Amino acid sequence: MSESPLPTHHGADERAPQVPAESNETLRLLLERGSCRHFAARPIPPETLARVLEAGTHAATGGNLQPYSVIRVEAAETRARLAEMCGQSFMAQAPVHLLFLIDWRRLCRWAEMEGAPFAAHRAFPHFWIGFQDTVICAQTMCTAADALGLGSVYIGTVLDFLEELRPMFALPPLVVPVVLLCLGLPASRPPRKKKLGPEILVHSERYQDRPSEELRAAFDSKYEGQRVEATEERLRMLEETCRNLAGEEAARRALEKVGERGHIHAAQRLFGLHYRADRMIRWNAELLKRFEEAGFGWFSAAP
Ligand SMILES: Cc1cc2nc3c(=O)[nH]c(=O)nc-3n(C[C@H](O)[C@H](O)[C@H](O)COP(=O)(O)O)c2cc1C
Repeated sequence: MSESPLPTHHGADERAPQVPAESNETLRLLLERGSCRHFAARPIPPETLARVLEAGTHAATGGNLQPYSVIRVEAAETRARLAEMCGQSFMAQAPVHLLFLIDWRRLCRWAEMEGAPFAAHRAFPHFWIGFQDTVICAQTMCTAADALGLGSVYIGTVLDFLEELRPMFALPPLVVPVVLLCLGLPASRPPRKKKLGPEILVHSERYQDRPSEELRAAFDSKYEGQRVEATEERLRMLEETCRNLAGEEAARRALEKVGERGHIHAAQRLFGLHYRADRMIRWNAELLKRFEEAGFGWFSAAP
């Protein structure tokens, strides 16, 4: 256990805000972590990767069922293809991609072999828990990677390409991608981002709405300096999103707010431009279709 208050595994970087000295190595890693998008042109030592994978597969899962699989992608051509597909060029520089899949196939085959009844792929409670199991495994690998001096970043954009990923990775029925993790040796220390803290996110004994002013101050502090210029194109997109979602009055109010402030607010950028609220809802039908094609049946009422 190191007594040094400064991180050693990502190298020094003046950009990151200081955190109080933390003598516990595990806590230090958790408090200083940041997503890594700059990877060194060096491979991950095989024994390091093996430890990361082993740590992840030891994570907790509901009923110890382990209803997930992980595809380790090291082929440069495949990584480049994934980077291009997701429109995130830095991905290609990460020497290892881990694709996390919810996987009921292995358990279904086992149950069949042994004469057990099986319907986990058709039961929403199983989906809910299996999804959590998959993500807990991913995060355990992520933390293990950090502890061994690697950098990582999740790529959620794979959700846009469920159809393309099936043939690309020969995914059989009952197996669906959840998220991808890029891993590699960091070329520089990832910046430490501002977060809402426990004073906002943790409630004591029962749920408690924070007063609006307290909430606003917390968000203002988190997104401080992230003003978006109100270009004509952005204003039209914001207006269109609001109109599609909630009608003319909502569109008028959004633009009025921009007029009052002189810029597009972080909340308007996030849900009006980036994660467009109207499009996210329209995406539901397509995602459900992809799950249905993969043999999942929890969203239909029939038993
Ligand atoms: C489920 C999930 C999906 C994500 N998808 C992406 C992605 O597609 N591209 C990316 O650059 N970062 C992605 N991230 C990383 C987030 O942008 C990042 O965690 C967030 O901005 C907070 O920054 P930090 O991880 O450095 O604290 C994702 C993170 C999660 C948990």
